[in-house]
Formats: sequence, C-alpha cells, structure tokens
Amino acid sequence: MSLLEPALAARDNAYAPYSRLKVGAAVRCPDGSIHVGCNVENAAYPEGTCAEAGAIAAMVAAGHREIVEVLVAADTPEPIPPCGGCRQRLAEFAAPDTPVTLAADGGRSERTTLGALLPGAFGGGYLPEPRR
Ligand code: THU
Repeated sequence: MSLLEPALAARDNAYAPYSRLKVGAAVRCPDGSIHVGCNVENAAYPEGTCAEAGAIAAMVAAGHREIVEVLVAADTPEPIPPCGGCRQRLAEFAAPDTPVTLAADGGRSERTTLGALLPGAFGGGYLPEPRR
C-alpha cells in the first residue's frame, strides 16, 4: 500500500489555523505497518508540532523503532521540504538511504533520501559512554 493515501487522510485532520499550511506524514516500518501524523498548531506558536513528529510519536507508541519509508504531503502546489528538526527526528529511526517522498497537491511529488536531506547527521554514536 502506498503511503500517500494514509498521509493525505492525516493531512485532512491537520490543525493549522495559524499558518494555514496543512501537512500529513506517513512512515512505514519493517513489518509493513504504517503510522501517520499531522501538524498540530497552538496559539502559543512554538508549542505547535510538525506532521513528522506526530507520525514518529504514533509509531513509537505502537511499539516500533525503525522507519523504512517516509512520505510527507502538504496542501501546496509544490512539495515542501521537511524542516530541519524533523530531518533530525527521522534520522533517529531511519537510515541515510531511507526513501523520502515529498508530495504536493495535484499529484506532483519528489523522491529523495534522508541522507540527501540531512548529510552528516548527528546520532547517538557521537555521545560519550555514560559516566558512573
Ligand atoms: N510543518 C510540518 O508539519 N512539517 C514540516 O516538515 C514543515 C512544517 C508544519 C508546521 C507548521 O504547523 C506549518 O507547517 C507551518 O510551518
């Protein structure tokens, strides 16, 4: 199953009264399960959350830790790039070669990878051993 339909369904539910930009995201796990999220804005602007963050939270809450495919759908004429914070969030659970599709309204889409979006990602491997 394509990630497009679940991402569009989540996008329909986006709560974006301030920016008016509705975004839906879908991630696929190795077992084939699909998890979705949408952006949820807040009158206190910094408290808003991105669609990708919602999809990752749903995935982790369902017991999964690995993403093999990502799709982000915005209600814009051109695909939108994921924000820097969400690239880092995705890098926690996906690999540099994980495909990322950026979909716009009207069927236009771009395919890239997480490594192309976030080269030189910081990861847990750079953290020191925990001190005792
Ligand atoms: N947004 C996302 O949901 N994902 C992104 O990767 C880029 C931005 C949302 C956040 C905010 O609700 C709106 O788009 C405008 O920034």
